[in-house]
Amino acid sequence: MQEDVTLEGFHAVKHALRFAPALVRVVTVTSLEGAERLCRDLAPDVAEPLLSLAVEGPVDHPTGVAGVAARPPEDHSVLTARTAPLVLLDGPRHPGNAGAAVRVAAAAGASGVAVVGALDPWHPAVLRGSAGLHYALPVLTCEVGELAGPVVALDAEGAPWERLPDDAVLVVGSERAGLSPAVRARADRVVALPMRPGVSSLNLATAVSAALYAWRLGAGD
Ligand SMILES: C[S@@+](CC[C@H](N)C(=O)[O-])C[C@H]1O[C@@H](n2cnc3c(N)ncnc32)[C@H](O)[C@@H]1O
Repeated sequence: MQEDVTLEGFHAVKHALRFAPALVRVVTVTSLEGAERLCRDLAPDVAEPLLSLAVEGPVDHPTGVAGVAARPPEDHSVLTARTAPLVLLDGPRHPGNAGAAVRVAAAAGASGVAVVGALDPWHPAVLRGSAGLHYALPVLTCEVGELAGPVVALDAEGAPWERLPDDAVLVVGSERAGLSPAVRARADRVVALPMRPGVSSLNLATAVSAALYAWRLGAGD
């Protein structure tokens, strides 16, 4: 088990309690009454676990709710076998983009999010961007050499979109440099999301979102 992480805000605590309740260690609220109201209005399903852990104290978040949860051990099995696409972020620089990618990966039903490069996918700023949805699927670091299965890399100059296989590794490149040479060499296909002429590229989390929802909705079948 690795170090604990901070859950900033009601939604982060809510998602961690929903998807990995055993990992949530501490919930702090500025007011028990306020927390009860938030649960009643937004997420009655987490009222019982949240309020049973909640202790009043100072919270530096507008929702008045924060928490501490264990960082789960990394599940590397998803790198080699899966029934839904694994998202691979190839050298992302901005934690907010990585967090947004985790959030949409969880929403679309991806099997996990892996990061190649220096960014820790459990950095507090990445967790902030995912609203605690790190607890809904495996989020880990990896090396390109660990990947098995079809690798489909996204690039604005790639070939026309085709249906993403369910067991694909879906790769997006970094904000400035795009795909790394190592990922290009490993990719079975490099495909583009069509854009209006004159637009250079999508934000990386937006590209993940478009590709995963094309998969989920069956585009290209
Ligand atoms: C901001 S873009 C990187 C732009 C960078 N200047 C480049 O040369 O690729 C970040 C990543 O989003 C993905 N991406 C952005 N727009 C895309 C598109 N229209 N089709 C496929 N992938 C796209 C690619 O994986 C890209 O590496």
